[in-house]
Amino acid sequence: MPNSGQKIFAALDTTDVEEARNLALRLKGSVGGVKLGLEFFSANGAAGVREIAKTGLPIFLDLKFHDIPNTVAGAVRAVMGLRPKILNVHAAGGPAMMRAAVEAAREAADAQNIRPPLVIAVTVLTSLDDDDLTAVGQTPPAADQVIRLARLTQDCGLDGIVCSPRETASVRAACGPDFKLIVPGIRPNLSVANDQKRTSSPSDAINAGADYLVIGRPITKAPDPAAAARAMAAALTES
Ligand code: C5P
Repeated sequence: MPNSGQKIFAALDTTDVEEARNLALRLKGSVGGVKLGLEFFSANGAAGVREIAKTGLPIFLDLKFHDIPNTVAGAVRAVMGLRPKILNVHAAGGPAMMRAAVEAAREAADAQNIRPPLVIAVTVLTSLDDDDLTAVGQTPPAADQVIRLARLTQDCGLDGIVCSPRETASVRAACGPDFKLIVPGIRPNLSVANDQKRTSSPSDAINAGADYLVIGRPITKAPDPAAAARAMAAALTES
């Protein structure tokens, strides 16, 4: 795979373990890893994740933990046996919760003698607009809240955030070169947005400062998912 393929995490948004496993096997060698989220985890739990891990593909476990620090630390310890490469929490859970998550991940990695996962945060869900922020007592505009929470995430020692293509350049400018930016909402063909409102091509997202791209349907619904992923990786190399 071109090295740029390593930057792509394919979102396996399904409740069906066999479908996810088959896709993962087809994608192996063409992507850097796969993302499993709440839909997959709620249906299949840790056993389902282990099935996908057996393919050898790195896993971004997108469970967006948000609870009191002690509970989040316990949840992080509980999933560390699955050896995720990336896991995430909600920045809105606050500084103590974020620090507890990182500490738990690093301690568990040490105990297992493995490299710690990237612990990243979700700042403002891209489904929320300024009116929604006001409704939940947060200060709009959303773009400013993203930067506030990105800086807080960095201060708490986390590795990065998930952000939309639209926010990537401003977060990169605010948080510097070492902060990891994981970017969904990627469309190689911008005319096919599905339900995504703020999309970007793979190369525009990388040029704006993305470290990893999360790509779902443009890969998983393609007639040949591995070929689609390889074409996107090749386009990154050319850009
Ligand atoms: O199919 P598609 O490429 O739109 O999938 C994008 C993936 O990234 C989905 O798993 C979606 O839940 C996730 N995601 C997103 N926007 C965010 C955070 C996560 O699209 N802000």
